[in-house]
Amino acid sequence: MSETTELAAGAAKLDAADELAAVRGKFVLDEVVYLDGNSLGALPAAVPGRVEDVVRRQWGELRIRSWDESGWWTAPERIGDRIAPLVGAARGQIVVGDSTSVNVFKALVGAVRLAQRAGGGRDEILVDATTFPTDGYIAESAARMTGCTLRPLEPAEVPGALSGRTAAVLLNHVDYRTGRLHDLPGLTAAVHAAGAPVVWDLCHSAGALPVGLDEHGVDLAVGCTYKYLNGGPGSPAYLYVRADLQDRFDSPLPGWNSHAEPFGMRSAYEPASGALRGRVGTPDILSMLALEAALDVWDGVTVEAVRAKSLALTDFFLECVRAYVPAGRVQSLTPAAHAERGSQVALRCEDAGDVMKRLIERGVVGDFRHPDVLRFGFTPLYVGFGDVERAARVLAETLAG
Ligand SMILES: Cc1ncc(COP(=O)(O)O)c(C=O)c1O
Repeated sequence: MSETTELAAGAAKLDAADELAAVRGKFVLDEVVYLDGNSLGALPAAVPGRVEDVVRRQWGELRIRSWDESGWWTAPERIGDRIAPLVGAARGQIVVGDSTSVNVFKALVGAVRLAQRAGGGRDEILVDATTFPTDGYIAESAARMTGCTLRPLEPAEVPGALSGRTAAVLLNHVDYRTGRLHDLPGLTAAVHAAGAPVVWDLCHSAGALPVGLDEHGVDLAVGCTYKYLNGGPGSPAYLYVRADLQDRFDSPLPGWNSHAEPFGMRSAYEPASGALRGRVGTPDILSMLALEAALDVWDGVTVEAVRAKSLALTDFFLECVRAYVPAGRVQSLTPAAHAERGSQVALRCEDAGDVMKRLIERGVVGDFRHPDVLRFGFTPLYVGFGDVERAARVLAETLAG
């Protein structure tokens, strides 16, 4: 048997044994191999019908009554509770709304305020130097606003840089370029030992692997819902504030939606208690309820099963790439160790921009990250092992031709 036939046969066996295989039927997909769910998740099939109901009946017929009767007003906390088990959080700690960027701002300034109010003259924010740019920009502004200096450094350097000056630390659970999974339990414990709070950005981990927010005592966390949670383009993000910190959480964006009595229309702000203290203004109901419908695909699915399949998919992809692509043509930036790998594979390739264009023309969709990275995201809910084998084969043919 040729190597190709062998790997294709292996893929068929793995697909036949895949306990998540049936979940793919809950998505709108075609013959394209879609490996860009770490940028924009595919459309769950139930979403269009639900959105149509929200628009035609809830908005079109019930109009303003829907704020109560259709549960619009409480949607940010209700959907937060739906996301909670996916990131290892008990109910009442997550609120959905605004973009990730805005929530990074709320969480980071809120974290610095927590630390500074506890005393001790803390005036330094540590930030992941390899972060998605928005976190870095916001951290720089948060530092200016709170009288802190900002120190960008690699996540692995954080433990050695912590001190009595540390006011807060902002880290990514999974690196958006390389797919490296950082040690959330270990880094959280190290930051706590220095007496500071930590904010985790979960954009590339939520829905792809266990996070364990409560188990590891994370202080604050944010994440988007349009990647592995399939909420749709620009779907609202979420903010986690650990239950015992909520009464001290002082949001830098205190809007009327987080007022203790929002319809009291008072001139003085008095924060509500609980997770809804993270709210700002009127929620984006259409996007939010599309997200709520999208989360139905998780019914009966465990994050542990997703993680097991994710590792099997990325292992198999790396195996196929090694077998099909001439040695030295691409170089994997994604750690080989499972404990350090998210749900994506990043391959360095000299002409990556052009290669990705040609891959997309041939029905294999990943993305290109400047200057030389081919990025492939593996969403275990709808990517199969046959897809993986085909992607690697088409990649090899593209690189050869
Ligand atoms: C790690 C990370 N943080 C933040 C963001 C920005 O999110 P948003 O554009 O929704 O504010 C992204 C977007 O892809 C991201 O990957």
